[in-house]
Amino acid sequence: MRTKIIAGNWKMNNDISQTTDLINGIKSAIKPSSSTIAIVCPPYTSLMTAQQLIKGTSIKLGAQDVSLFDSGAYTGEISLPMLKSVGCEYVIVGHSERRQYHAETNEIINQKAKKVLSGGLVPIICVGETLEEREKNITSQILTTQVKGVLAGLSASEVEKSIIAYEPVWAIGTGKTATKEQAEEVHLLIRTLISQLYSSTTAEKVIIQYGGSVKPDNAKELLSQPNIDGALVGGACLKADSFLAIINAA
Ligand code: PGA
Repeated sequence: MRTKIIAGNWKMNNDISQTTDLINGIKSAIKPSSSTIAIVCPPYTSLMTAQQLIKGTSIKLGAQDVSLFDSGAYTGEISLPMLKSVGCEYVIVGHSERRQYHAETNEIINQKAKKVLSGGLVPIICVGETLEEREKNITSQILTTQVKGVLAGLSASEVEKSIIAYEPVWAIGTGKTATKEQAEEVHLLIRTLISQLYSSTTAEKVIIQYGGSVKPDNAKELLSQPNIDGALVGGACLKADSFLAIINAA
Protein backbone atom coordinates (compact mmCIF):
# COMPACT_ATOMS: atom_id res chain seq x y z
CA MET A 1 0.00 0.00 0.00
CA ARG A 2 1.35 3.39 -1.00
CA THR A 3 0.95 6.22 1.53
CA LYS A 4 -1.57 8.87 0.50
CA ILE A 5 0.05 12.30 0.35
CA ILE A 6 -2.04 15.47 0.37
CA ALA A 7 -0.13 18.69 -0.29
CA GLY A 8 -1.58 22.18 -0.08
CA ASN A 9 -0.05 24.61 -2.56
CA TRP A 10 -0.88 28.01 -1.10
CA LYS A 11 0.55 29.81 -4.17
CA MET A 12 0.92 33.58 -3.57
CA ASN A 13 -1.57 33.72 -0.70
CA ASN A 14 -1.44 34.47 3.03
CA ASP A 15 0.63 36.95 5.00
CA ILE A 16 2.00 36.08 8.44
CA SER A 17 -1.23 36.59 10.33
CA GLN A 18 -3.26 34.62 7.77
CA THR A 19 -0.61 31.89 7.86
CA THR A 20 -0.91 31.70 11.63
CA ASP A 21 -4.70 31.41 11.47
CA LEU A 22 -4.66 28.78 8.73
CA ILE A 23 -2.01 26.57 10.34
CA ASN A 24 -3.70 26.83 13.73
CA GLY A 25 -7.00 25.85 12.12
CA ILE A 26 -5.46 22.81 10.43
CA LYS A 27 -3.50 21.63 13.44
CA SER A 28 -6.39 21.99 15.87
CA ALA A 29 -8.45 19.42 13.96
CA ILE A 30 -6.03 17.17 12.06
CA LYS A 31 -6.35 13.51 13.04
CA PRO A 32 -3.19 11.46 13.39
CA SER A 33 -2.94 8.92 10.56
CA SER A 34 -0.41 6.28 9.70
CA SER A 35 -1.53 6.05 6.08
CA THR A 36 -1.77 9.74 5.09
CA ILE A 37 0.79 12.56 5.05
CA ALA A 38 -0.33 16.20 4.98
CA ILE A 39 2.02 18.88 3.65
CA VAL A 40 1.61 22.66 3.60
CA CYS A 41 3.48 24.70 1.00
CA PRO A 42 3.19 28.37 1.98
CA PRO A 43 4.99 31.22 0.21
CA TYR A 44 8.65 31.73 1.21
CA THR A 45 7.83 34.59 3.60
CA SER A 46 5.58 32.31 5.67
CA LEU A 47 7.83 29.23 5.82
CA MET A 48 9.46 30.16 9.13
CA THR A 49 6.14 30.94 10.82
CA ALA A 50 4.59 27.74 9.48
CA GLN A 51 7.59 25.69 10.58
CA GLN A 52 7.31 26.99 14.15
CA LEU A 53 3.57 26.36 14.28
CA ILE A 54 3.68 22.78 12.95
CA LYS A 55 6.43 21.68 15.36
CA GLY A 56 5.27 18.59 17.25
CA THR A 57 2.43 17.87 14.79
CA SER A 58 2.34 15.41 11.89
CA ILE A 59 2.10 18.24 9.34
CA LYS A 60 5.07 18.55 6.98
CA LEU A 61 6.52 21.64 5.33
CA GLY A 62 7.13 22.19 1.62
CA ALA A 63 8.21 25.05 -0.64
CA GLN A 64 6.72 26.04 -4.00
CA ASP A 65 9.95 26.32 -5.99
CA VAL A 66 13.74 26.36 -5.61
CA SER A 67 16.71 27.93 -7.34
CA LEU A 68 19.06 25.77 -9.40
CA PHE A 69 21.95 27.36 -7.50
CA ASP A 70 23.05 27.12 -3.87
CA SER A 71 24.09 30.76 -3.39
CA GLY A 72 25.33 33.79 -5.25
CA ALA A 73 24.16 36.63 -7.45
CA TYR A 74 20.65 35.40 -8.27
CA THR A 75 18.41 38.26 -7.16
CA GLY A 76 15.03 37.11 -5.91
CA GLU A 77 15.90 33.42 -5.80
CA ILE A 78 15.78 31.04 -2.82
CA SER A 79 18.20 28.14 -2.57
CA LEU A 80 17.86 24.57 -1.41
CA PRO A 81 20.14 25.04 1.64
CA MET A 82 17.89 27.96 2.67
CA LEU A 83 14.78 25.78 2.35
CA LYS A 84 16.47 23.02 4.33
CA SER A 85 17.45 25.43 7.08
CA VAL A 86 13.83 26.50 7.54
CA GLY A 87 12.66 22.89 7.84
CA CYS A 88 11.27 22.11 4.37
CA GLU A 89 11.11 18.43 3.48
CA TYR A 90 9.31 18.81 0.13
CA VAL A 91 9.64 21.18 -2.83
CA ILE A 92 7.14 21.58 -5.68
CA VAL A 93 8.99 21.82 -8.99
CA GLY A 94 7.64 22.59 -12.44
CA HIS A 95 4.17 23.71 -11.48
CA SER A 96 2.30 24.74 -14.64
CA GLU A 97 2.26 28.34 -13.40
CA ARG A 98 6.09 28.23 -13.30
CA ARG A 99 6.08 26.72 -16.79
CA GLN A 100 3.69 29.42 -18.02
CA TYR A 101 4.93 32.58 -16.29
CA HIS A 102 8.59 31.74 -15.79
CA ALA A 103 9.28 29.76 -18.94
CA GLU A 104 10.35 26.63 -17.06
CA THR A 105 11.05 23.75 -19.39
CA ASN A 106 11.19 20.00 -18.75
CA GLU A 107 14.98 20.39 -18.71
CA ILE A 108 14.97 23.09 -16.00
CA ILE A 109 12.42 21.11 -13.98
CA ASN A 110 14.61 18.01 -14.28
CA GLN A 111 17.60 19.99 -12.94
CA LYS A 112 15.49 21.34 -10.09
CA ALA A 113 14.28 17.84 -9.19
CA LYS A 114 17.91 16.67 -9.12
CA LYS A 115 18.86 19.64 -6.94
CA VAL A 116 16.07 18.83 -4.45
CA LEU A 117 17.00 15.14 -4.32
CA SER A 118 20.71 15.96 -3.89
CA GLY A 119 19.81 17.75 -0.67
CA GLY A 120 17.77 14.82 0.64
CA LEU A 121 14.42 16.54 0.13
CA VAL A 122 11.47 15.21 -1.87
CA PRO A 123 10.54 16.92 -5.15
CA ILE A 124 6.87 17.11 -6.10
CA ILE A 125 7.34 17.13 -9.86
CA CYS A 126 4.40 18.52 -11.85
CA VAL A 127 3.29 17.41 -15.30
CA GLY A 128 0.09 17.90 -17.24
CA GLU A 129 -1.43 18.75 -20.60
CA THR A 130 -3.19 21.96 -21.67
CA LEU A 131 -6.79 22.02 -22.89
CA GLU A 132 -5.58 22.46 -26.47
CA GLU A 133 -3.37 19.39 -26.17
CA ARG A 134 -6.23 17.31 -24.71
CA GLU A 135 -8.58 18.43 -27.49
CA LYS A 136 -5.98 17.49 -30.11
CA ASN A 137 -5.84 14.01 -28.55
CA ILE A 138 -2.14 14.28 -27.79
CA THR A 139 -2.39 13.97 -23.99
CA SER A 140 -0.46 10.71 -23.87
CA GLN A 141 2.37 12.00 -26.12
CA ILE A 142 2.65 15.19 -24.07
CA LEU A 143 2.72 13.29 -20.78
CA THR A 144 5.25 10.79 -22.13
CA THR A 145 7.57 13.61 -23.24
CA GLN A 146 7.16 15.46 -19.95
CA VAL A 147 7.70 12.43 -17.73
CA LYS A 148 10.77 11.29 -19.69
CA GLY A 149 12.12 14.86 -19.64
CA VAL A 150 11.61 15.61 -15.96
CA LEU A 151 12.97 12.23 -14.84
CA ALA A 152 15.97 12.13 -17.22
CA GLY A 153 19.07 10.85 -15.48
CA LEU A 154 17.34 10.08 -12.17
CA SER A 155 18.20 6.72 -10.63
CA ALA A 156 15.48 4.24 -9.71
CA SER A 157 15.90 5.01 -6.03
CA GLU A 158 15.59 8.75 -6.74
CA VAL A 159 12.37 8.17 -8.68
CA GLU A 160 11.03 6.03 -5.83
CA LYS A 161 11.65 8.93 -3.42
CA SER A 162 10.00 11.51 -5.69
CA ILE A 163 6.36 12.47 -6.01
CA ILE A 164 4.86 13.07 -9.43
CA ALA A 165 1.85 15.38 -9.59
CA TYR A 166 -0.40 14.99 -12.61
CA GLU A 167 -2.12 18.33 -13.01
CA PRO A 168 -4.09 18.87 -16.21
CA VAL A 169 -3.60 22.59 -16.85
CA TRP A 170 -7.25 23.00 -17.88
CA ALA A 171 -8.35 21.81 -14.43
CA ILE A 172 -6.18 24.14 -12.36
CA GLY A 173 -8.13 26.91 -10.67
CA THR A 174 -10.99 26.51 -13.15
CA GLY A 175 -13.38 24.42 -11.10
CA LYS A 176 -13.23 21.81 -13.92
CA THR A 177 -11.89 18.62 -12.39
CA ALA A 178 -10.79 15.70 -14.50
CA THR A 179 -13.27 12.89 -14.01
CA LYS A 180 -11.96 10.00 -11.96
CA GLU A 181 -11.73 7.98 -15.20
CA GLN A 182 -9.76 10.70 -17.02
CA ALA A 183 -7.38 11.11 -14.08
CA GLU A 184 -6.94 7.37 -13.49
CA GLU A 185 -6.20 6.82 -17.20
CA VAL A 186 -3.29 9.28 -17.12
CA HIS A 187 -2.02 8.04 -13.75
CA LEU A 188 -1.92 4.51 -15.13
CA LEU A 189 -0.11 5.78 -18.23
CA ILE A 190 2.52 7.49 -16.06
CA ARG A 191 2.98 4.41 -13.87
CA THR A 192 3.27 2.15 -16.92
CA LEU A 193 5.85 4.47 -18.44
CA ILE A 194 7.89 4.44 -15.22
CA SER A 195 7.68 0.67 -15.23
CA GLN A 196 9.12 0.65 -18.76
CA LEU A 197 11.81 3.25 -18.00
CA TYR A 198 12.79 1.67 -14.65
CA SER A 199 11.03 -1.42 -13.33
CA SER A 200 7.69 -2.55 -12.02
CA THR A 201 9.09 -2.29 -8.47
CA THR A 202 9.91 1.39 -8.97
CA ALA A 203 6.55 2.01 -10.65
CA GLU A 204 4.73 0.39 -7.72
CA LYS A 205 6.55 2.60 -5.21
CA VAL A 206 6.28 6.03 -6.83
CA ILE A 207 3.58 8.33 -5.46
CA ILE A 208 1.46 9.97 -8.17
CA GLN A 209 -0.74 12.82 -6.97
CA TYR A 210 -3.64 14.34 -8.88
CA GLY A 211 -4.09 18.12 -8.91
CA GLY A 212 -6.63 20.46 -10.47
CA SER A 213 -9.74 21.69 -8.66
CA VAL A 214 -9.62 18.98 -5.99
CA LYS A 215 -12.39 19.82 -3.51
CA PRO A 216 -13.94 18.07 -0.49
CA ASP A 217 -16.79 16.82 -2.68
CA ASN A 218 -14.64 15.18 -5.38
CA ALA A 219 -11.62 14.12 -3.31
CA LYS A 220 -12.96 10.75 -2.24
CA GLU A 221 -13.78 9.43 -5.70
CA LEU A 222 -10.47 10.64 -7.12
CA LEU A 223 -8.44 9.28 -4.22
CA SER A 224 -10.13 5.89 -4.36
CA GLN A 225 -8.72 5.22 -7.85
CA PRO A 226 -6.01 2.54 -7.76
CA ASN A 227 -3.29 4.75 -9.26
CA ILE A 228 -4.13 8.05 -7.54
CA ASP A 229 -1.98 8.31 -4.42
CA GLY A 230 -2.79 11.77 -3.20
CA ALA A 231 -3.64 15.29 -4.20
CA LEU A 232 -1.94 18.59 -4.86
CA VAL A 233 -4.55 21.08 -3.74
CA GLY A 234 -4.66 24.79 -4.62
CA GLY A 235 -7.79 26.81 -3.88
CA ALA A 236 -9.31 24.33 -1.42
CA CYS A 237 -6.21 24.31 0.81
CA LEU A 238 -6.67 27.95 1.78
CA LYS A 239 -9.47 27.12 4.21
CA ALA A 240 -8.69 24.77 7.10
CA ASP A 241 -12.01 22.94 6.92
CA SER A 242 -11.82 22.14 3.20
CA PHE A 243 -8.16 21.11 3.38
CA LEU A 244 -8.97 18.87 6.37
CA ALA A 245 -11.93 17.36 4.53
CA ILE A 246 -9.63 16.40 1.64
CA ILE A 247 -7.08 14.92 4.06
CA ASN A 248 -9.85 12.94 5.73
CA ALA A 249 -11.13 11.72 2.35
CA ALA A 250 -7.71 10.09 1.83
P1 PGA B 1 -6.45 24.21 -7.78
O1 PGA B 1 -4.85 24.27 -7.96
O2 PGA B 1 -6.72 23.15 -6.75
O3 PGA B 1 -6.82 25.58 -7.30
O4 PGA B 1 -7.02 23.87 -9.09
C1 PGA B 1 -4.10 23.09 -7.98
C2 PGA B 1 -2.65 23.44 -8.23
O5 PGA B 1 -2.38 24.38 -8.97
O6 PGA B 1 -1.75 22.77 -7.68
